[in-house]
Amino acid sequence: MRFKDGHLLGLEYADKEDIELILKTATSFREVLERPIKKVPTLQGKTVVNLFFEPSTRTRISFELAEKRLSADSINFSSTNSSVKKGETLLDTARNIEAMKIDMVVIRHQSPGAANFLAGNLGANIINAGDGAHEHPTQALLDMMTILEKHESIEGLNVAIIGDISHSRVALSNIHGLLKMGANVTLCGPATMIPREIEKLGVDVCYHVDDVLGKVDVINILRIQLERQEGGLFPSLREYHNYFGITRARLDKLSKPITIMHPGPINRGVEISSDVADSEHSLILNQVTNGVAIRMAVLYLLAGGENINA
Ligand code: CP
Repeated sequence: MRFKDGHLLGLEYADKEDIELILKTATSFREVLERPIKKVPTLQGKTVVNLFFEPSTRTRISFELAEKRLSADSINFSSTNSSVKKGETLLDTARNIEAMKIDMVVIRHQSPGAANFLAGNLGANIINAGDGAHEHPTQALLDMMTILEKHESIEGLNVAIIGDISHSRVALSNIHGLLKMGANVTLCGPATMIPREIEKLGVDVCYHVDDVLGKVDVINILRIQLERQEGGLFPSLREYHNYFGITRARLDKLSKPITIMHPGPINRGVEISSDVADSEHSLILNQVTNGVAIRMAVLYLLAGGENINA
């Protein structure tokens, strides 16, 4: 595992071989999750702290499950009922937790760079579970694993990421990961939600969702962060739905079905209609299942695990 100094901070720092190794390892762990007894002793004796400063359902539960499936000791920290409320800093919080002899920290934080900051200041392995609008690497990895359930290869695949690209850590990690794996990536959303000059990363940009849908194999639909509406980035949720919402009517106009993904949580009736979210082409719940396997693979490899596929 050659991620930066024993950490998983973002897919910007990964190369294609790293990503392939994680995906292959996750496929082996996915099989463990189908067994009647879904537990292996791989990380026995290791302690992982899940340090969550922001709300999470999928990421927090699947990291905890991944740790338990690997027999690690798992500790959950939530900022809302911690001494952060008394003014303790991120660094002091993390140093105090590390003083209790832990091995790995999974961190979700509202500030971009929080995971990198801990990596520079602690001896433990750090895994970024989402830092502001920067990166969410395990989400992009589980998205790629899910794509591979339906498509033979990511190389040459046409993938669109639709929605609020500017504020999305999922978008940035997917862009880095998909490009490294050889996909053609198109970003689509209102102009107010697409960063200027993002094409320099090697992606295409399109502001008309119907033009994009006819050209892609996979769409990854991002959540419209409802709090952004007050910032005037789009006039109303109804208008967003009319221009960019993925609906059955839009998909029915296409000559072939496309794979539907969404990292969750979803706003039904805003960025995706309910019938599309629950349709046979939607892999939204497969993404959640694969999240546990991906997180098992990342924990295993960062703890020094060998390539179990070799
Ligand atoms: N996809 C994702 O990160 O979901 P949570 O915020 O529930 O973890």
